[in-house]
Amino acid sequence: MTKLTVLRADPLTGHVQVPGDKSISHRALMLGAVALGETRITGLLEGEDVLATADAMRAMGAKIVREDNGEWRINGLGVGGLLQPHNDIDMGNSGTAARLLMGLVAGHNITVTFKGDASLSSRPMMRVIEPLTQVGARFDAAEGGRLPLTETGAQMPMPITYELPVASAQVKSAVLFAGLNAPGETVVIEPKPTRDHSEKMLNHFGGDVRVDELPGGARRITLKGRPDLQGRDVIVPADISSAAFALVAASIIPGSDVTVTNVGLNPLRAGVINTLKDMGADIEMIGQTTSAGEDVGDVRVRFCGLKGCTVPASRAPAQIDEYPVLFVAAAYAQGQTRFEGLEELRVKESDRLSVMAKGLTACGVVVEQGEDWLVVHGIGGTDVGIPGGATVASSLDHRIAMSFLVLGMASKHPVTIDDASPIDTSFPGFCRVMTGLGAKFKTD
Ligand code: S3P
Repeated sequence: MTKLTVLRADPLTGHVQVPGDKSISHRALMLGAVALGETRITGLLEGEDVLATADAMRAMGAKIVREDNGEWRINGLGVGGLLQPHNDIDMGNSGTAARLLMGLVAGHNITVTFKGDASLSSRPMMRVIEPLTQVGARFDAAEGGRLPLTETGAQMPMPITYELPVASAQVKSAVLFAGLNAPGETVVIEPKPTRDHSEKMLNHFGGDVRVDELPGGARRITLKGRPDLQGRDVIVPADISSAAFALVAASIIPGSDVTVTNVGLNPLRAGVINTLKDMGADIEMIGQTTSAGEDVGDVRVRFCGLKGCTVPASRAPAQIDEYPVLFVAAAYAQGQTRFEGLEELRVKESDRLSVMAKGLTACGVVVEQGEDWLVVHGIGGTDVGIPGGATVASSLDHRIAMSFLVLGMASKHPVTIDDASPIDTSFPGFCRVMTGLGAKFKTD
């Protein structure tokens, strides 16, 4: 446990780069491992979650090296080519790594034991076990369908048609990845669109994925099995989920003017920008381009007093990881902000609804919470200020840790988190980056 305290900051100013996108980094390593030939990745997130994926792909036979210039090179095995690992695969804190890899393994006749830390071992895996069993994989899981679990992939993987019961890009991707080594077409129907990095990257590697829009905003994703995936170059944009901490900090600290460069702006990820705009934030996107199907651009935010609003459930999939820091933004807004459709927050790295409500209350913010909603009573103007002055538990959750550090950058009294170590799962260098903008931290 590494305690960390944040002090009230002067205005944050400057241009800043945050690490690579976590979702895209996991997928680049996994698809590079099942593509033939060489894949070169620039801008890979070198956080613990992604490094766990790199280790797992090595353990299943892919050759992966990091060059001195920071580029990652993978020599892949081709679709269906993963090998039996000799040891258990430790997924650490990463639900994405565990669920997507369970999908890949389902299409290989190998047996893999997945384990993880206390947070990951408490998260539901039935959501992937259920469709992957239909593909032909077999599972021996801890009680309630949790890690540690042993999976034996199918001898003859079946292409399935699966309608997602929860809006989850991880479940969608697990089914598509399992379908890679099945004959015929694997189909996923998603009632609400979720991040489509897997679809885009599969096509970038030479796969055949078609997306059809259905009435009411649903989508049907069709993957042709046994494609010849070929190694490719991948440039990973900066993670909007990490950028969000700087964007919210600049929105709540008077006088701030911050630009985060080269951020992934996939519309199915960029809900945080729409929500901040709804709250009245002064935020603009600059120089947008597209790379390997992904939108990328700089995002500039200048301080301007936020106001409360209602954040609809329909936006949840596009900002699912940004709620903790959006709750912090709402605490500094004028009036109430009501967040709806939050049921999935309960099964993230922590129960983010309860953990955030508790920490906000400890910092002097009034909140009301229901099973799937939260109302934050904003204090409206930082001259009044949120009291802060509390020590908050990170609960093995990187985004909880960083959200309370952002809260403490504008509160009257310093905020302490009991453990800063989870931050390295997604945003190594968080303190350095934020200090460069003007934040002040203190270690005991
Ligand atoms: C992710 C999907 C989301 C998100 C997670 C990354 C992905 O999870 O919360 O951090 O890379 O596919 P769900 O699929 O459970 O919503």
